[in-house]
Amino acid sequence: MSILANRVKNIKPSPTLSLSAKAQALKAEGKDIISLGVGEPDFDTPKHICDAAKRAMDEGKTRYTPVPGTMELRQAVCDKFKRDNDLDYTADQIVVGTGGKQILYNAFQATLNAGDEVIIPAPYWVSYPDMVALAEGTSVFIECPASDNFKLKPDALKAAITDKTKWLILNSPSNPTGGAYTHDELKALTDVLLEYPHVHLMVDDIYEHLVYEGFEFVTPAQVEPRLMDRILTINGVSKAYAMTGWRIGYAAGPLDIIKAMSKIQSQSTSNASSISQAAALEALQGDQTFLQGWKDTFQKRRDLVLGLLNDIEGIECVKPEGAFYIFASCASVIGKTTKSGQVIATDEDFAQYLLAEHGVSVVHGAAFGLSPFFRISYALSSEDLTKACTRIATACDELTGQAAAVA
Ligand SMILES: Cc1ncc(COP(=O)(O)O)c(C=O)c1O
Repeated sequence: MSILANRVKNIKPSPTLSLSAKAQALKAEGKDIISLGVGEPDFDTPKHICDAAKRAMDEGKTRYTPVPGTMELRQAVCDKFKRDNDLDYTADQIVVGTGGKQILYNAFQATLNAGDEVIIPAPYWVSYPDMVALAEGTSVFIECPASDNFKLKPDALKAAITDKTKWLILNSPSNPTGGAYTHDELKALTDVLLEYPHVHLMVDDIYEHLVYEGFEFVTPAQVEPRLMDRILTINGVSKAYAMTGWRIGYAAGPLDIIKAMSKIQSQSTSNASSISQAAALEALQGDQTFLQGWKDTFQKRRDLVLGLLNDIEGIECVKPEGAFYIFASCASVIGKTTKSGQVIATDEDFAQYLLAEHGVSVVHGAAFGLSPFFRISYALSSEDLTKACTRIATACDELTGQAAAVA
């Protein structure tokens, strides 16, 4: 009898984390690798936030906190929702956890019974289906093609809803596409949900602040207040404040769901780190002006990479509104042959080829549920991005033969 539980067999390790580990290992061997697989800003956490953490240590804020987070932080989260999204929540409708990831995990654990369905538009963030599987739920995928900017359309949503649907999950701006929903696009989706009172909406707004060219971010609870008692809005400080290592995420929503998530957390991690909570408090309440500079930098990099990639024969990308990702099509290289005689049959083969023969690490589209694509993160210096795109261009140039017809 195996010591390992069956549930371990039903999930995969995060492909993005294992790919970045692989790229790190090659770098450690002395190989010249440019990693475009990273899922975190390359900026440092702002000093005023680090100072708040140091003060918390000096002041002895080193003990357990209430399970759903300190009252100050939960109040600051309420203030954030009012300030940024014009949403009214009370502190007991907020739960803080160890990263947006734990919050999502807790939400599925707290709400799914075996066989309950979760609608996940593809491409999706790699962890959603495995988290659903860990909670014994069933993922129902809807492919959202590049021609729709990878966004979910109301008719497709309607067709996917069954009696067993418990959640639709929406992530805007998206990892991996960077696409963000406009007010009208969200309204068309929330209109569908109004017709199905048993379906709840899980909203992952972790990239909220990273939108470019004046794009106006909106969140579904703002767009359709009549759904307030069916919407769980998840956010965190990882991406906007360059705090991925601090591990603070939070959710706001109906009291029964929040309480259930807190109960689950009380039997796993108890509370998020007290020091990180103090840092997150400063992130949400303190100076926000640095954000504009970061956004300007990201926008310039996005435009740089978009231009360079779209100039490559064989690669095509749509312009994303936010996050720091581009989801590029590699349909025109599928079926071609490398110099060493290997046929590129899938987007995974293409990603392996880029890493092994050209020193560029990207994540293949299949990891996000849509092929043939690859995801690039542009949270790197312009010099490295230019170098990486030149390598991708060379890699494509060196391929020979005809591209296979890809549906
Ligand atoms: C779409 C999305 N949601 C949630 C998370 C989780 O973020 P964290 O756990 O670092 O707060 C990530 C991180 O990559 C993400 O890309």
